[in-house]
Amino acid sequence: MKKILIATEKPFAKVAVEGIKKIIEDAGFEVALLENYSQKVELLQAAADVNAIIIRSDIVDSDVLAAAKNLKIVVRAGAGYDNIDLATASAKGVVAMNTPGQNSNAVAELAIGMMIFAARNNFNGVSGTELKGKNLGLHAYGHVGKAVATIARGFGMEIYAFDPFVDKKTIEAEGIHYVADVSDLYKSCQYVSLHMPATQQTKKSINFGLLSLMPKGATLINTARKEVVDEEGLLEMFTERADFKYVSDVEPDCKGLIAEKFSGRFYFTPKKIGAQTAEANNNAGLAAARQIVHFFTDGDTTFQVNK
Ligand code: 3PG
Repeated sequence: MKKILIATEKPFAKVAVEGIKKIIEDAGFEVALLENYSQKVELLQAAADVNAIIIRSDIVDSDVLAAAKNLKIVVRAGAGYDNIDLATASAKGVVAMNTPGQNSNAVAELAIGMMIFAARNNFNGVSGTELKGKNLGLHAYGHVGKAVATIARGFGMEIYAFDPFVDKKTIEAEGIHYVADVSDLYKSCQYVSLHMPATQQTKKSINFGLLSLMPKGATLINTARKEVVDEEGLLEMFTERADFKYVSDVEPDCKGLIAEKFSGRFYFTPKKIGAQTAEANNNAGLAAARQIVHFFTDGDTTFQVNK
């Protein structure tokens, strides 16, 4: 009998765990659950005899892949798969998948919420500004970028998008200004929201050169990954531009310095919460379970990311 491990350092909502179990057990497979773990060794032990693993931001590195001797598939219930060692997975014949789009509305709602929070001075009572009529730049236009655009339209924002992998026609068809050069996105928008994955190309790519192009009242919203922001450039921007604010889902490494010097101009979630809603957990978790069942029963590799 196939054994599927749900390994979540940050647990899914209870309803999602129940749903995942039902899908797996109805298919005749067995479920193991490792939640809230704090030591890597716990994951190594739990993975030792399983055929599949469902994870979130949990690290599946070469040690985990070596320990999981019977592993055939790992599914990241979510979008970003920078936490999986894809090269080692491929070398070991392990299929890696994500569940694209399943948690994007939750992340988009958080991005908008953080924008409002910044525009209203972290709800401190001092007169703020409105989102209506402001320019919003979407740096990357995947599932989350699209969901942010849908909500921002309702707020009366003017929306711009830059994404080297999405063509002009697709972006313009959705009533969004297509931006061919990333510098123009930052020049045009008071609000820039980041939605790219963390890759060799994107890490530290949001630097002072780009940020300093932003018009007065600049706010950067990061619900992507902290690694895409160049923290030296970020500190320079905070220093040079008294109008600049940064809100981020998960704190940067330089949080202490920012808190010390730039009080009132930032907000960081203590733990990544963008996808932490019952709905997103359900959508992504259940999709992961179904993908595993289809993989074992029909050989379906639709969402494989290490092809
Ligand atoms: C994702 O890549 O899907 C999001 O960052 C959510 O990550 P999480 O499942 O760890 O909350």
